[in-house]
Amino acid sequence: MFLLLLFLAFISGVCSMTTKEIYVRAGDLVMLKCGECKYDGTVVLWKLETGQKTQLYSNMSASEQQRLGLVLYQDSLVILSASSNHQGNYTCGPLRNTRCQMAFRLTVYSESSREIEFGNRYNQTCYENQTCELNCPEENVPCSTAWELLGITWHKENGAVSDDFFTNVDVGKSGVYICTRSFLYSDQTYNASFTVVLDVQTGKPPTNLGIYSPKNGKVVEVELGKTAEITCTALIDSSDGSLFWLRNDEFVEKNDTLRYFYNDTFSKNASLDDVVWMSATLVFREVLEEDLSAEFRCKLESAELTLLVSVTLDKTAGPSYVILTACIACIVVVMAVIVATYVKFKIDVTLFLRGKLGSSGCQSNTSDEKSYDAFLMCYKSVTDGGLSEEDRKCLASTLEDEFGYSICLYDRDVLPGQAIAEAVLDCIEQSRAVVLVPSFPDPEPGSAVLSAIHTSLVERKTRLIFINTEQTETEASRSGSFPESLQLLSKAGNSVTWKGRPPSTSFWKQLRYHLPAPQQTPKMQLLSQEC
Ligand SMILES: *[C@@H]1O[C@H](CO)[C@@H](O)[C@H](O)[C@H]1NC(C)=O
Ligand SMILES: *[C@@H]1O[C@H](CO)[C@@H](O)[C@H](O)[C@H]1NC(C)=O
Ligand SMILES: *[C@@H]1O[C@H](CO)[C@@H](O)[C@H](O)[C@H]1NC(C)=O
Ligand SMILES: *[C@@H]1O[C@H](CO)[C@@H](O)[C@H](O)[C@H]1NC(C)=O
Ligand SMILES: *[C@@H]1O[C@H](CO)[C@@H](O)[C@H](O)[C@H]1NC(C)=O
Ligand SMILES: *[C@@H]1O[C@H](CO)[C@@H](O)[C@H](O)[C@H]1NC(C)=O
Ligand SMILES: *[C@@H]1O[C@H](CO)[C@@H](O)[C@H](O)[C@H]1NC(C)=O
Ligand SMILES: *[C@@H]1O[C@H](CO)[C@@H](O)[C@H](O)[C@H]1NC(C)=O
Repeated sequence: MFLLLLFLAFISGVCSMTTKEIYVRAGDLVMLKCGECKYDGTVVLWKLETGQKTQLYSNMSASEQQRLGLVLYQDSLVILSASSNHQGNYTCGPLRNTRCQMAFRLTVYSESSREIEFGNRYNQTCYENQTCELNCPEENVPCSTAWELLGITWHKENGAVSDDFFTNVDVGKSGVYICTRSFLYSDQTYNASFTVVLDVQTGKPPTNLGIYSPKNGKVVEVELGKTAEITCTALIDSSDGSLFWLRNDEFVEKNDTLRYFYNDTFSKNASLDDVVWMSATLVFREVLEEDLSAEFRCKLESAELTLLVSVTLDKTAGPSYVILTACIACIVVVMAVIVATYVKFKIDVTLFLRGKLGSSGCQSNTSDEKSYDAFLMCYKSVTDGGLSEEDRKCLASTLEDEFGYSICLYDRDVLPGQAIAEAVLDCIEQSRAVVLVPSFPDPEPGSAVLSAIHTSLVERKTRLIFINTEQTETEASRSGSFPESLQLLSKAGNSVTWKGRPPSTSFWKQLRYHLPAPQQTPKMQLLSQEC
């Protein structure tokens, strides 16, 4: 006994427990369940505190049980006929297991102590002119077939036998009813009674049959590989209604060994007869990708009513994933816009930056000891599409006077007396770029020189800008008619198309873009040269 006490002290310390209040009429049967009516063979220890006395019950002999008016049945303690001796605090717990224990406070009331009976009162609401069936509670009564339920009888408060079913109830039926469940155990009859307070209300019942949740078309967020549950609740006609789940129009089974199944519960709403709240829970042990494309439907089926609500599953996107995606999208868009803008306006942007940062900007701030920004050199245009002398003068003067370039011109800046090819190469040496201008007729120094020096031009990696006209472009495309030397050079250089005089703004922009920035500051007195 001492050991048992020690053990009990031990298990008391393990779990916190809530106390269940039980009220029982003197002489009635009551069952205290130390579990869920699913007995797994565990030996249960009971402790009873009545006043000053503390008693422990585990396995008692049948005669001892009989003497105390108790039955230890599996994990339950059944008091066959309650008396004030049984009143007290009970705790129970498995003997060889430290799982939670349970606690009960049992109050035994007699016919004369009516006020305590309020602890054993149950309310029921019915509606005028409706059918009304009284419900006898099923609390703390044996759930085992060892106690055979003989029947349920109803009495009014005054002791008169009563019906439990009214087809057309009226307000006058309101009042206190007592139901008695009679059980047969060991050839003896034992009763368990409950007080039901019926309230018959005027007016319509407030509920309608139907599926209350989920809403049709609901998207349920799930995680792949994880469990998920979707509960469908409905108020159904208890006589012929049913609630179940369909997956792509096939029945979902109730077998809980499957990957997905459903289980259901009923709860009789005492306020409404013939209807029950039913819930069918679709359970996934593991959500798979294939479930995301499936259609799940909860179906309510009864004689008068068929309702369906459809539910789809959707993968939860973690918030970090969403933000990351948004960030990447933002960056990509911003970069695309920048690139597109640059491609479209690269000439304007470059010229603008050059203007802002000055020639000492990023490009060529090195004093390369060259005297000229560009050397204007002519090449012979086969057709008459080349630039005339006037055109060439306009080109040179605008570059010099308006844009501040220093230009080397053969007929002005090359000293006479040297060998032509040498003089031209000297001039090229002194210039940062060579602008090749198609000319007609062939001017000095003549295209022969160009042919002679073209390899050294390519070798020196001289910055070459080819000025084309629409005619020379078509010439060039007719391969063969364009001298080989020029074809080589035109591949090495950039080209700008001359569309006639006066040259357009875009021609100047393109030319300036391909030329290096002028090393001199532009001349301030802009003698607007009319070309
Ligand atoms: C109680 O149970 C043990 C085994 O669980 C058994 O040996 C013992 O005889 C039982 N005592 C009574 C009084 O039934
Ligand atoms: C039962 O426990 C409550 C406190 O939980 C205490 O007030 C009451 O006196 C106890 N009753 C008996 C009979 O031990
Ligand atoms: C039953 O109804 C009465 C009066 O409306 C109320 O005081 C009491 O708490 C109700 N009992 C239960 C168990 O709902
Ligand atoms: C049990 O209840 C029935 C019906 O109320 C009654 O006839 C019977 O005498 C009761 N038995 C006991 C043992 O109280
Ligand atoms: C119930 O029926 C009576 C008699 O037919 C009628 O007077 C009363 O208005 C009805 N009540 C309701 C709530 O329908
Ligand atoms: C549940 O499913 C398993 C595996 O498919 C099967 O072996 C078992 O018999 C099923 N149980 C019922 C009650 O249908
Ligand atoms: C339905 O099954 C799930 C998983 O087995 C369980 O957690 C849940 O309690 C069950 N619900 C009912 C009402 O049986
Ligand atoms: C029973 O029905 C009433 C009225 O519709 C409702 O307020 C109450 O919550 C329902 N009770 C249960 C247990 O569903």
